[in-house]
Amino acid sequence: MKTLLIVDDEKATRDALRMALENSFDCYVAADLQQATQVLKAEDVDLLLTDLRLGADSGMEVLDAALARPQPPVCLMMTAYGSVDTAVEAMRRGAWHFVTKPLNLDEVELLLKRAVRNRTLEKENVKLVEENEVLRTSKATSRKGLERLIGSSPQMQRVAAKIEQIAPTRATVLIEGESGTGKEVVAHTLHDLSGRPGEKFVAVNCAALSPQLLESELFGHEKGAFTGASQRRVGRFEQAHGGTLFLDEIGEIDATTQVKLLRALSERTVERVGSNSPIKVDVRVIAATNRRLVEMVAEGDFREDLYFRLNVLGILMPPLRERREDIVLLANSFLSEFAKENGREEKPLTEAAMAKLKSYDWPGNVRELRTAIEHAVVMSNQSKLDVQHLPEFLISNGRGWETMTGKKALAPAEEFNLHALEQRTIQGALLATDGNRTKAAGLLGISRRTLQRKLSEAPPIESK
Ligand SMILES: Nc1ncnc2c1ncn2[C@@H]1O[C@H](COP(=O)(O)OP(=O)(O)OP(=O)(O)O)[C@@H](O)[C@H]1O
Ligand SMILES: [Mg+2]
Repeated sequence: MKTLLIVDDEKATRDALRMALENSFDCYVAADLQQATQVLKAEDVDLLLTDLRLGADSGMEVLDAALARPQPPVCLMMTAYGSVDTAVEAMRRGAWHFVTKPLNLDEVELLLKRAVRNRTLEKENVKLVEENEVLRTSKATSRKGLERLIGSSPQMQRVAAKIEQIAPTRATVLIEGESGTGKEVVAHTLHDLSGRPGEKFVAVNCAALSPQLLESELFGHEKGAFTGASQRRVGRFEQAHGGTLFLDEIGEIDATTQVKLLRALSERTVERVGSNSPIKVDVRVIAATNRRLVEMVAEGDFREDLYFRLNVLGILMPPLRERREDIVLLANSFLSEFAKENGREEKPLTEAAMAKLKSYDWPGNVRELRTAIEHAVVMSNQSKLDVQHLPEFLISNGRGWETMTGKKALAPAEEFNLHALEQRTIQGALLATDGNRTKAAGLLGISRRTLQRKLSEAPPIESK
């Protein structure tokens, strides 16, 4: 039987918990930090369940004391309902999970049992990581698998180290960061390094589908489950069995699908829409979002429990403007990529062009840099890529479209949309000519009439 230490300053709660749990666990109780520390030293505690508020002491101290043991227990924190911040803090310090008060004793028992299972899994994972370590060092190519993730800044080195450390585990990973910072690249890298070569990488863009379609996309459906379901369909979870399921734009999923996803993650089973027989799936889930999920949780737009399920391990991608030393590396790598792709010889960037790239703020991050380099490669007819070959927004003042027009940079969905790009260029030409349509048409290389027509095609982007 596993040993459990219950820490709560209220006797009634301690007793209730002990009574509910003593059939399944070997229970110890403590009322404060001092008592808890004594038990932790004297016994091999497998599980810790501690209240956050302990009179004069804090549950965080108990947590720290427990985690400092040579064989730390799996720790669960009890918090008051709705205190996201403290729960986040506890998890950051190393707690495995949290339960909110008032307590549901059945739920607590289930969670503790799951914690035991989880610990067993974790031990297996550590073994896997160690085996991997041996493999890696024996090959002497210690950075193998990380090639597609370019960057040598301290921030990116930290990201790379974290990837190497967590890739071989099966734990769920949440990747957060602004648009274009490389979240998808990280997801692929995690999969490549997962130690299961040849397994599937299945990606789902959660923002692209209506709630009902997303549900059947993820979990599948039986024939006739809803109007239009003429065939039985296997969901992405099942498809990814044995491999990785990448849930992109996870912040966009609706409340019902959040519940289903939570179940799939905690039970490791899925049910097709229109069926109620659970199917076991063994899938490593990686989720990504450019929204701040913690804030969405605080606003009530994202389930707290699902957030914790997803964020077992978190990776935060730093924006490019905070790691400018990566710009040169990235630019040069994109240069050779596009030179090859366009069948041109590789030309270097002039120092002036490089300086422009380094001073710009890159609201669209690496993706925007990549597009700028592609532009330069296509535009250049000289032996070097110079400032004039860079996109207009970089040449004008190096501050970007945002400052030029007072508008935000284009949303990712518009980035490659020809119509949006055309409108953006037209607006740029009008700005450059103080709104003189004849001159703007001249700059654009089209007739004034064509410009008139194009302007009437879409509501113009207002200029400042
Ligand atoms: N560190 C990097 N090394 C090489 N290429 C990168 C790196 N980061 C991003 N890229 C490239 O930049 C582009 C955008 O990256 P990615 O799609 O991974 O961004 P994202 O964070 O998922 O963005 P979004 O939130 O808009 O989906 C891709 O073409 C990707 O190959
Ligand atoms: Mg992405």
